[in-house]
Amino acid sequence: MSLEIISSSKEMTAWSMRQLGSGFTIGLVPTMGALHQGHLSLVHEAASGSDKVVVSIFVNPTQFGPNEDLEAYPRTLDEDIKALVQQGKADVVFAPSVREMYPLGANKTWVVVDELGDHLCGASRPGHFRGVTTVVARLFAIIQPTKSYFGLKDAQQFFILRRMSIEMSFQVELIGIPTVRERDGLALSSRNRYLSPEERKQAVALSRAVAIAKTLIEKNGETDSDKIIRAMKDELASVTLGVVDYVEIVEGEHLQPCKRLTSGMVVLAAIAYKFGKARLIDNSISIVPLRRIGRSRV
Ligand code: PAF
Repeated sequence: MSLEIISSSKEMTAWSMRQLGSGFTIGLVPTMGALHQGHLSLVHEAASGSDKVVVSIFVNPTQFGPNEDLEAYPRTLDEDIKALVQQGKADVVFAPSVREMYPLGANKTWVVVDELGDHLCGASRPGHFRGVTTVVARLFAIIQPTKSYFGLKDAQQFFILRRMSIEMSFQVELIGIPTVRERDGLALSSRNRYLSPEERKQAVALSRAVAIAKTLIEKNGETDSDKIIRAMKDELASVTLGVVDYVEIVEGEHLQPCKRLTSGMVVLAAIAYKFGKARLIDNSISIVPLRRIGRSRV
């Protein structure tokens, strides 16, 4: 399969119109490049669920804060294209310039989802999610995908984008794909490359901590968020090389903290941790088990 590289949004839309006009569905995998196995697993899913696959590669400046790693963010377009050619599942790479995505310079039109970005990464990265929602809304408008695939490592991003998509009436189905992990559990991330060997060893505690939260909620029936957070923090105590950004438990609809977990609730246990310039995140999603009320009579 040959891989087409498109950088103009007009050409991208024309390509999509041709595919949709011929009755094909389009699966979109939005990325910022520096592709790893996690991204390739999204492309794999897109290829099994759609006739044509577009991978967008765009390091989106509006989702980086003033003191974040926009300049240093890895830009590896040639390697990314090579990896996609080798995988053989994508039809198009859409790799626009900043000018193409923000044609009038400093951006004035934003898509904002209230409330869902108040906690977790939204609290520690002000303005981050409106950058994400704005660029993804623009990608949806340009590419007109039938389905779009996102990694659940960024679960808050996924929930926010799903809300945006429904409320903006985008005709696209959003699909969340489980986090891909290294053998020892570390979640794959483009930022793992910043870790020193010692930080890399310690970073695996994040995955252990979110797994502990899942076990406490789903197996042990723990409903007190403070106790779960304490257990996650205890697990992180072995990490000496960085600083905790947040350790939080939020419910899955509005992404608000909740002290007491209730039956059937979807719960996100999430961590962000800073190792030097690498800010890593991880999470687990649990469903609070249904509790039997009283004794059933036969
Ligand atoms: O998850 C990412 O890589 C980015 O936030 C996204 C969705 C591609 C938007 O720039």
